[in-house]
Amino acid sequence: MNAPARQYENSPQLEDSVKTFGREIFSAIGKEQPSTFNKDYWAGRIMEWSMSKPEFKVNMFRLVDVLPTLTSSAAIATHVSEYLSKPGAEISGLLEWGLNINPNSLRAKITSALVRKSVREMAAGFIAGETPKEALKPLRRLRKNRLSFTVDLLGEFSLSEKEAEVYVNRYLEALEVLGDVHGWEESAPLVTDHPGESSALCISVKLTALYSQCNALNFDRSVSVLSERLTRIVREAQKKRALLYVDAEDSGNNPIIYQTFKNVFSQPEFKDFPHPGIVIQAYAKSAEATLLDFIQFAKQRGAPIAVRLVKGAYWDHETILSAQNNWPSPLFAKKESTDANYEKLSRILIDNHEHCLPAFGSHNVRSLCYACRYAESRGLSTKHFELQMLYGMAEPIARAFSSKGYLVRLYVPLGEMLPGMGYLVRRLLENTSNESFLRHTFFDSHDVDRLLAAPKFLE
Ligand code: FAD
Ligand code: 2OP
Repeated sequence: MNAPARQYENSPQLEDSVKTFGREIFSAIGKEQPSTFNKDYWAGRIMEWSMSKPEFKVNMFRLVDVLPTLTSSAAIATHVSEYLSKPGAEISGLLEWGLNINPNSLRAKITSALVRKSVREMAAGFIAGETPKEALKPLRRLRKNRLSFTVDLLGEFSLSEKEAEVYVNRYLEALEVLGDVHGWEESAPLVTDHPGESSALCISVKLTALYSQCNALNFDRSVSVLSERLTRIVREAQKKRALLYVDAEDSGNNPIIYQTFKNVFSQPEFKDFPHPGIVIQAYAKSAEATLLDFIQFAKQRGAPIAVRLVKGAYWDHETILSAQNNWPSPLFAKKESTDANYEKLSRILIDNHEHCLPAFGSHNVRSLCYACRYAESRGLSTKHFELQMLYGMAEPIARAFSSKGYLVRLYVPLGEMLPGMGYLVRRLLENTSNESFLRHTFFDSHDVDRLLAAPKFLE
């Protein structure tokens, strides 16, 4: 099973079976839309506006980003006018009514309340609650609907040590509350003998939230502080029988994140920690080397890890940063190259599944069907890998795969608006991007053949 399976690589038989399976999934999805795209919701309406008016989109998302820091209605009304009445931003109806008004007027108060309410509603579509206690009900509902979960406490890039310490403690407290999950009848494994179901409780952690001075120029100290703080969380997770993934972030911090993961999970006390998870981003030109390095790490550790394969959430940010600084971008420039790399890395991961439990994180039906069919062509069954999706993004797709017997895990963020803004803006950018598979699936067309076409490396 370890030798690369060149004979299956994009063979006509594999391609046919991917397309057949993709059509089955599309027909199971039918005309159902995820709530994000439903125009009855604010999120749906705002996304629709944003897609038709790119100028509005940029300014709207800037406003969303700054909103939680604005404490008075006068400040909100002023910002709404500054951002949304820029030249080129075509606004109509209710919003126009709230532009360029006296910031101390009743109209400003109404505008501010409406803007806050709609952004809150939009965030609520992607976030399951403010606290772990509040999230217990939606989490239990997911399991009832045969979906597994991993809980993320919103937060990243802490600005002070006080903030970082609060974040570590929030994880320790969350594990205490979420321990209730073990008492639920819905926590019985959804797929028999699946390592991802050895516990119904799973958390995901963003390391840049655990240390305020985390950066590449402070590499050794960052790794050392993060190793100590992550160790405390992993120790508690072990006590509470929780599985754990460490998220990948921006290219500047990923080397720190990867080294910290290796430090922590090569400690003898975590030798038996079941399938600790790391994330590989297919949009990174270095992703294949990183994956091979983690396969090697798992072999040396003598116990398997889990690898969540995603495409990467920081493309806009990193591409702009590289262009501004005249750096060569560490990421592919064409989406199709990222998609092709995702399939290549899926093959490597599947061919090494004894060392790395594959977790395919995507909402792209082609990418997921390719992974499932390639795995099956290599003799793997549904207990050898899992699929992962983001809460609030693609419920119809999650249900379609789950109903076919695959283990589907949703990534469920919890927390308040302010630390959640980065996450929310990334979801809004993704959903309104011209390149988004989800958007094309649910908005533009049902041109299934085009959506299922095999991607090629273009660079
Ligand atoms: P698609 O529409 O098929 O792909 C969109 C993706 O293509 C973009 O996100 C980007 O990566 C890439 N892309 C877009 N335009 C270009 C371009 N011009 N050139 C090259 N590539 C381009 N992301 C992280 O970074 N770290 C994580 O830890 C993480 N965890 C996740 C957990 C889960 C369960 C899921 C489902 C996603 C996670 N993500 C994470 C987000 C992920 O990286 C993607 O942003 C998201 O899933 C969209 O990709 P897609 O395959 O669903 O959709
Ligand atoms: C993000 O925070 C899901 O990790 C991914 O965008």
